Amino acid sequence: MAVHEGRRLVVLTGAGISAESGLGTFRGTGGLWENEPVQAVATPQAFAKDPLKVWRFYEARRHQAARAEPNAAHRALAELGRCLGPRLTLITQNVDGLHQAAGSQQVLELHGSLWRLRCTDCGGEAEDRTVPLPVLPPRCGLCGALLRPCVVWFGEFLPEKVLAKAVEAARDCALFLVVGTSAVVEPAASLARVAESRGAALWEVNPETTPLSQLCQRSWRLPAGEAMDEVVEEASRLLEDP
Ligand code: OAD
Repeated sequence: MAVHEGRRLVVLTGAGISAESGLGTFRGTGGLWENEPVQAVATPQAFAKDPLKVWRFYEARRHQAARAEPNAAHRALAELGRCLGPRLTLITQNVDGLHQAAGSQQVLELHGSLWRLRCTDCGGEAEDRTVPLPVLPPRCGLCGALLRPCVVWFGEFLPEKVLAKAVEAARDCALFLVVGTSAVVEPAASLARVAESRGAALWEVNPETTPLSQLCQRSWRLPAGEAMDEVVEEASRLLEDP
C-alpha cells in the first residue's frame, strides 16, 4: 500500500501549544481576552471605529510572536509530518506561524496569520514580517487604503478553501488529535465532533478538561511540550495497526 493510502491523522491545535513558547492563551486567568475585550480589538466594528487601537493590539502580538521559538510540541508535530507526509493534516487556530517555523508544511490556518496583511479596499494581500511596522496603521502600497491583519475576527467567515480542506480531512481520518485548545470556538471545535461521528478515535492533550473531553478515548492532562513525544509515538503505532 502506498504511504498516502494509509490511515490518516488530523491534528487540531490551539493557543495552548504555543504557551510553552511564551505566547499567551486567550481564555482563563491572564488570558489575552481578559486584558483586551474581544469586542474592542478583534471585530470588524472595532477596526472601523479605531484602526490604530486594533493595530496596536496586533503589533504587540507580532512582536511577541517574532521573538518566540517553536517548542518541543511544535517540533514533534513537524517530525511526524516528515514521517507521515500527506497522511497528516495539521490544522491550527493559531496565527503565530510557529508550526511553520518548526518545519511543518501545508498547515491549515483556520484563523489566518499575523504575518499576512490585506488591503481593506483593493483586497491585495501580501506576506509582511517587518517588526515593528514603520507606520501604524499601515497603508496599502498600491491604493493607499488601510491594511488589516489577515486574521479572522469575530463575526467573520473562516477562509473558505482552508475550512473545506479541514472538514474533508476530519471526515476521513482514523485519529483526530486535539492539542491545546479550549474547544469553545466554532467551527474549529466541531471538526473533532465530525471526525468522532465518522468513527475516528479522538485524543486530547490539555492540562484542563474541555467540552470535547468526554468524547475522547485518550487524554493527556499535561502541557503539550511534555506529552507530545509519547502522543506522537502512540499515534504512529495506532496508524500502523491494520
Ligand atoms: P484558548 O485560550 O481558548 O484555550 C487555550 C487552551 O490551552 C486551554 O484549554 C488551556 O487549558 C490549554 N493550555 C494551556 N497551556 C497549555 C499547554 N502548555 N499545553 C497544552 N494545552 C495548554 O485558545 P484557543 O482554544 O486556541 O480566535 O482559542 C480558540 C480561538 O479563540 C483562537 O484562535 C482565537 C480565540 O478567540 C480568534 O481570534 C478568531
